[in-house]
Amino acid sequence: MSDGQHTIVLGCQWGDEGKGKLVDILAADCDVVVRFQGGANAGHTILFDGHKFVLHMLPSGVLRPHLVNVVGNGCVVDPVALASELDELRARGMAPPPGRLLVSGGAHLVTPDLLSEDRDTGAKIGTTGRGIGPTYARKAQRVGIRCEDISEPGFADRIPAVEGKERFLAACQRLVPYVGDCSRYLHEAMAEGKRLLFEGAQGAMLDLDLGSYPFVTSSTTTIGGAFSGAGVYVPFARRLGIAKAYSTRVGNGPFPTELTGETGDLLRTRGHELGSTTGRPRRCGWLDLHLLRKAVVANGINEIALTKLDCLSGLSEILVATGRDRSGQPVYHPLPGWDEELANCPSFDRLPKTTIDYIGFVELHMGVKVRIASVGPDRSKTLFRGAQ
Ligand code: IMP
Repeated sequence: MSDGQHTIVLGCQWGDEGKGKLVDILAADCDVVVRFQGGANAGHTILFDGHKFVLHMLPSGVLRPHLVNVVGNGCVVDPVALASELDELRARGMAPPPGRLLVSGGAHLVTPDLLSEDRDTGAKIGTTGRGIGPTYARKAQRVGIRCEDISEPGFADRIPAVEGKERFLAACQRLVPYVGDCSRYLHEAMAEGKRLLFEGAQGAMLDLDLGSYPFVTSSTTTIGGAFSGAGVYVPFARRLGIAKAYSTRVGNGPFPTELTGETGDLLRTRGHELGSTTGRPRRCGWLDLHLLRKAVVANGINEIALTKLDCLSGLSEILVATGRDRSGQPVYHPLPGWDEELANCPSFDRLPKTTIDYIGFVELHMGVKVRIASVGPDRSKTLFRGAQ
């Protein structure tokens, strides 16, 4: 096994930090991209060559033709969503053939009854309605249905007779050529010297254990989930934490630095903060270093990418929460804003001094270097400090 060349990309807030774009860029230097948790609740938006791709179920590496993409056993797979993403990619000549897409036989299937159960019961949490909670619940109850069951006799009889069953069964048949043993594949790939890139979905604050329970998703979104969710130990040399330069949250639950007034509206407009899976407006607020620190600790983050810095331009003052007071309220530190538009900034060290100071403040409080600054949605608007 060759150590030192594997990377994991993890969201450090409530998801939507811009992981998809970073994974897509870093994938250029990798051989295999792996998803290990979550399902079609994710929404990874990637923009390149003027095309916008929103991936929910497929790993973000599908847009790079040299890569193998793996959906690990820790994921919950909605075959209908997956088939429709494959169709969309096929229409653009980019669908991965079997061999370039491997779905773990151990991943649990989101059946149509579980989709409607989530839609009926998920309102309190504000779930995405993609069947995530009910599917993981069945898995934990040891009554779930897995991808490897599709080819077993009597499979269709195990699916409750509800609306959407026929479509579900047809989509399952399309999945069959992709189903395999991911754990073994990944182990062998490492032995052959292949470079792995693990792609987290959602973020640390939505982790089933670490997040603000019960307002969380139903999987382990932090690094521990990578090992159990892919069935293999990977010595990740690069543990890249993605954090937006401010905070957003979709769905219900505590959001200590939330901005409900004008500044929140401004960030929402500037950052086009609408959920890529549900289209819901995202709640917006100041950067919360108190929570970010928890994500850094839980994940062993050794490098940070700060995204959407361009959306903060024009604010005279930017607040950053550094801790909590005795009553648990955020303690803010004010930092000067900047007027310059950042989107056309050619390199990291040409960012305005106030932006560099903002980044430096984050580094000081996290004890981790910010190696990447994202200043626009396109692949090209990504500034690396040092080597990529
Ligand atoms: P579920 O994952 O659909 O069960 O939803 C649980 C919580 O996680 C809700 O607050 C959702 O809005 C949130 N959530 C799930 N996936 C994402 C995501 O990809 N980005 C942001 N929030 C998400």
